[in-house]
Amino acid sequence: MTTGSDSAAFWEKHYAALDDQWGMKPNAVFADLVTTFAPTPGTALDLGCGHGGDTIWLATRGWDVTAVDVSPTALQRVATGARAGGVSDRVHPARHDLAHDFPEGRFDLVNASYFHTPLDIPRTKVLRRAAAAVTPGGLLIIVEHASIASWSWQTGNDVHFPHPDEILASLELDDSWTPERCHAPQRTATGPAGQRATVTDNVLTLRRTS
Ligand SMILES: C[S@@+](CC[C@H](N)C(=O)[O-])C[C@H]1O[C@@H](n2cnc3c(N)ncnc32)[C@H](O)[C@@H]1O
Repeated sequence: MTTGSDSAAFWEKHYAALDDQWGMKPNAVFADLVTTFAPTPGTALDLGCGHGGDTIWLATRGWDVTAVDVSPTALQRVATGARAGGVSDRVHPARHDLAHDFPEGRFDLVNASYFHTPLDIPRTKVLRRAAAAVTPGGLLIIVEHASIASWSWQTGNDVHFPHPDEILASLELDDSWTPERCHAPQRTATGPAGQRATVTDNVLTLRRTS
């Protein structure tokens, strides 16, 4: 198992080398799911928020968002983007290494979109903790890569992609949960240099009913 400083060092190096405008747009899959299944704003938690594309999109729609990442550089860019978008009052950047600690509170929407890392972290435990942080009536959205684009840092790695049902089973949810979506659709992705490719995502949208 890696230490918190390993995760911070890896992701700081990643963001230091990245164009600070990359990832400032929301993930299209995520935005569609929120529009369909959570049209009324409330409180949201964005796990591994990166540059904050999803966070700022939510805030501009009236959500109050706690934006969590292990990288201080990413969180500074979230704060900058929130100021530029006039939504600083609804965006709360918070540094956590989710392998080791988790923000307090419960949220109407918890987002774990592309919460991937090459480091060895207890990801299933983090996602179970994410489910526990959802209010009754609220949603947990998990969107994951289920294939590798040529520009991915995972290219060349022998990666096993679980079926969405395996991810759902791993969460060990009780019968107070209803899946709204649990499938693996394809989409066209655009890379940092504008390259295009068809990729597959695992998409889970899970509602806590009580
Ligand atoms: C692949 S990026 C996805 C970013 C964003 N959610 C998106 O969809 O563009 C994964 C994010 O998770 C963050 N992350 C990785 N390990 C983490 C950890 N242990 N604790 C908190 N954040 C972490 C990284 O810093 C990075 O911003």
